[in-house]
Amino acid sequence: MPAPMSPCNARLACAIALLASLAACGGGSNPLDNPPQVANPATAGGQKLSFLYFQKCINPIFLMPLPAPDGGAVNTCAGAGCHANATGTGGAFRVEPGAQPVDLADPRNTPEVVRQSAMYKNFYSAQGEVVFGSPTQSRLLAKPRLLNVLHGGGQVFASDQDPAVRRIAYWISRPVPQGQDEFSAAGDSMFTPPNAKEGTCNTQ
Ligand code: HEM
Repeated sequence: MPAPMSPCNARLACAIALLASLAACGGGSNPLDNPPQVANPATAGGQKLSFLYFQKCINPIFLMPLPAPDGGAVNTCAGAGCHANATGTGGAFRVEPGAQPVDLADPRNTPEVVRQSAMYKNFYSAQGEVVFGSPTQSRLLAKPRLLNVLHGGGQVFASDQDPAVRRIAYWISRPVPQGQDEFSAAGDSMFTPPNAKEGTCNTQ
């Protein structure tokens, strides 16, 4: 009958068995090593809304003086206490109040250059508050319309027929065709005549 294993040997045997089983789990040669790098590829796919329509028809809405419900100081969506990027309290939706329209016809304004602009930051933030194709489910409209949600800025738009609401709903309902980017010329069709520079903003 072999002599019983000392507690110390027993623990060592357990540790070796544990290490062996860890190695068998594909932990690579050293089970105490760091796990393999997690791949996190940039999302290339996914539909986009139109930047052309945004900068001419949506961004101005964020700068519009809004009648204060209590008749007090007039606010704007991009106002300092509201959605201004630097000072606002408006949650994740942030606006650069001084953003200037980008001349997309200027060859120096490549997509990489435009994506660095303040106007593009506003576009990206507003697009982040959208459920593509569904205006009423989109926070960008549900919040200022108080559609089954509260809004720190209260009710901004009282009716679906408000011209600003109709523009926001139109933009949300017409993402650019799949596979095209936010600068797609398909955005021209959202204007009358169908030209982002000359045309007026369609709402239907
Ligand atoms: C057209 C005008 C406006 C639009 C489109 C708008 C849109 C939004 C959106 C989408 C959110 C949610 C942000 C998130 O996902 O975290 C939000 C939140 C908020 N907004 Fe506005 N807003 C507008 C005007 C205002 C104004 C004028 C004020 C200030 C008086 C204001 C104050 C706030 C505050 C404090 C929050 C954070 C609390 C909350 O989630 O309700 N907003 N707004």
